[in-house]
Amino acid sequence: MSHHDHDPVFNTSGNPHFQDVLAQSLQNPARRGLLRGGLGLAGLAMLPGCATLTAGLAASPSALGFAAVEKSLLDNVMLPPGYQYSVLHATGDALDSALAAYSNKGLESDDWSRRVGDHHDGMDIYYIDANGRYSEKETARAVLCVNHESSADSHFLHPNGQTSNKVSGKKFTQFGDWDLGARPELEVLKEINLHGVSVVEIVKSPQGWRIQQDSPLNRRITPQTPVRISGPRAHIAQIRGFMTTRWDTAGAMSRGTLNNCGHGKTPWGTYLGCEENWAYYFQTTAGGSAFSAKEMASLKRYGVASAAPVAGVAKAAGQGWHTVSGTDDRFSRWNLAAVGATAEKDFRNEANTFGFNVEIDPLAPNATPAKRVAMGRFAHEAAVCGVPKAGEPLAFYIGCDSRNEYIYKFVTTALWDPRDVGGGLVAGDKYLSEGKLYAARFDASGQGEWLELTMADPRIANHSAYKFANQGDVLVNARYAADAVGATKMDRPEWGAVNHRNGEIYFALTNNSAANRTPAKTDLANPRAYMDMDGVKSMGNPNGHIIRFKESGHQASAKSFAWDIFVFGAEEDSGDVNLSGLTAKNAFSSPDGLWFSKATGICWIQTDDGAFTDETNCMMLAAIPGQVGDGGKVTVKNKMVVGGVEQTGTQETFLGAALGEAKLRRFLVAPKGAEVTGITETPDGRTLFVNIQHPGELSKPQSSGGAPQSVWPGNQGYGVAGRPRSATIVITRKDGGLIGL
Ligand code: FEO
Ligand code: CA
Ligand code: CA
Ligand code: CA
Repeated sequence: MSHHDHDPVFNTSGNPHFQDVLAQSLQNPARRGLLRGGLGLAGLAMLPGCATLTAGLAASPSALGFAAVEKSLLDNVMLPPGYQYSVLHATGDALDSALAAYSNKGLESDDWSRRVGDHHDGMDIYYIDANGRYSEKETARAVLCVNHESSADSHFLHPNGQTSNKVSGKKFTQFGDWDLGARPELEVLKEINLHGVSVVEIVKSPQGWRIQQDSPLNRRITPQTPVRISGPRAHIAQIRGFMTTRWDTAGAMSRGTLNNCGHGKTPWGTYLGCEENWAYYFQTTAGGSAFSAKEMASLKRYGVASAAPVAGVAKAAGQGWHTVSGTDDRFSRWNLAAVGATAEKDFRNEANTFGFNVEIDPLAPNATPAKRVAMGRFAHEAAVCGVPKAGEPLAFYIGCDSRNEYIYKFVTTALWDPRDVGGGLVAGDKYLSEGKLYAARFDASGQGEWLELTMADPRIANHSAYKFANQGDVLVNARYAADAVGATKMDRPEWGAVNHRNGEIYFALTNNSAANRTPAKTDLANPRAYMDMDGVKSMGNPNGHIIRFKESGHQASAKSFAWDIFVFGAEEDSGDVNLSGLTAKNAFSSPDGLWFSKATGICWIQTDDGAFTDETNCMMLAAIPGQVGDGGKVTVKNKMVVGGVEQTGTQETFLGAALGEAKLRRFLVAPKGAEVTGITETPDGRTLFVNIQHPGELSKPQSSGGAPQSVWPGNQGYGVAGRPRSATIVITRKDGGLIGL
């Protein structure tokens, strides 16, 4: 008996089946236009007679239609025969024609607030109609929003890498080595401003898409941009109490956003920039008064760093932005030391203003972005909305990307009204201020539970590791609340994605380390613990997997779901580890970006890997998914050396149907040292936008005289050659056909 046999009948109403509506639309030119115009299947779900989306009914293609791309260590974007790419924009490109063209030598002025930021990550596209308003249908004008994750390796952005003013002369070589001493002001200003989000108008010409310099819509959201703190009416005063700083003593506003990784697009047409590894930007210098035990507990649970040894808070890497001398609070805000008499006199609370989904209206350049506290504070990685259904709540699925962290769901109190499309941040206030926040527990039965994070739950109200004051505290310290209710610790939840054809939700679990996964420390949802001694040596779950789930009754507000594992990452020659039967044509490691094409139904998988990189650069694969429960039970054989002793064990789990090379194929391999992340398309499925982040990540610092590991995209004729740059590329088929089929 399958663990999915509990499934309810999908639709007991007398309404026509979704398949029928689709079939009608394909026969009906008006509806066909609707489909082609971009309303797509999600839009069809709002049509009368289609109130309930049913599973597995829209036909999926049976096989992919391109030749798999070989593994590659070359310094270029590799695509299947018949495909081509061009660069849309890259780090440093000027948004205004008045700015000098990018020198690519680190010589730019300090004002990156009018240039494309660095480390392109999640992105989405917003079409503009003839009246300048948001359009769900494709037009020749759009705004592309791109997250700039921008973490440690900004050494290509200064003339000679990051300057060290420390006596030791120790310079940045890798993430854990950041100890530069006092930083030069100009370098820090550049680094601050290249973070955030780029909002750039793009236009379609006969030659393809290009950016529109000087557009009034061009905007940079940086860590300096004023942002509104928004939250549930009943708890906003409590929330503001956590946000009080010298800059806004009322805690109603904060400054900016940073380390924006995966993203979200709302059904009403706004952008969610999600704040991931924000904790590493803060330090706590000596000289302040001691944190309370509760403040300390919060800092520890969120991994906020401390430059000076503060008891109980681990010393970690940091940008050192606070080290610029003087009292300018553009710099001092990154130091959490409680040096003032009260929180209104210093920045002890500044870290509480990060860790959120930040809503931006791409078509309203003067609109103040809003931090959506109701969606919880953690290391946000993408916020994907389930298929919207008129008259029902919306669900946003959110990963918290750190080892052993959780998957969350936010369910709106407001019911979806398609008339809110184009409603900007007013619609955002309606849907994203009030709602319920849940964390996921994956059970051994193949079912899972959504655990509400509320003070009404005595496990939260009486949690011993962190004493919550109120519901505002629960939202700001959501990780503790999820601990209290027993959510399942996952192998680093990265992007979520929704399969628009059946409403199922997918999550990339990128990898986990030997400290967290041993044969004795696995569960059904995180079942692997092994060693890879071939090439890059790694242990734990170094290759990651993709999990998926189906809400009970296909309801956004469901309290339970059925789950299985879609596919395991693996090297093709890894034996028992290779549970999904991957081959040289589709072997991959560390899935990160994850996204479904509405046009083709293809599930695109992007990698950010460090375990398979001896054989291939990071990549993007196309998959044609089935549905939860299309496979069965498997037994994972685990083997690992733990503390010098070989440990073995078995772990049962639920694995989806094998995809084979017909349904899982490598489509793209990135330049050297890059991760592939961020993807969107034109609604006709004939143009794909993909981000190439941090080519040359493993370069020796410029300051050490090392040659860059990558010189892409300059080596392909884009801009000034010499240093690598992150970029958005535009992929098309030379014959203009559908991408991937
Ligand atoms: Fe920024 Fe979780 O990758
Ligand atoms: Ca290997
Ligand atoms: Ca191998
Ligand atoms: Ca990511």
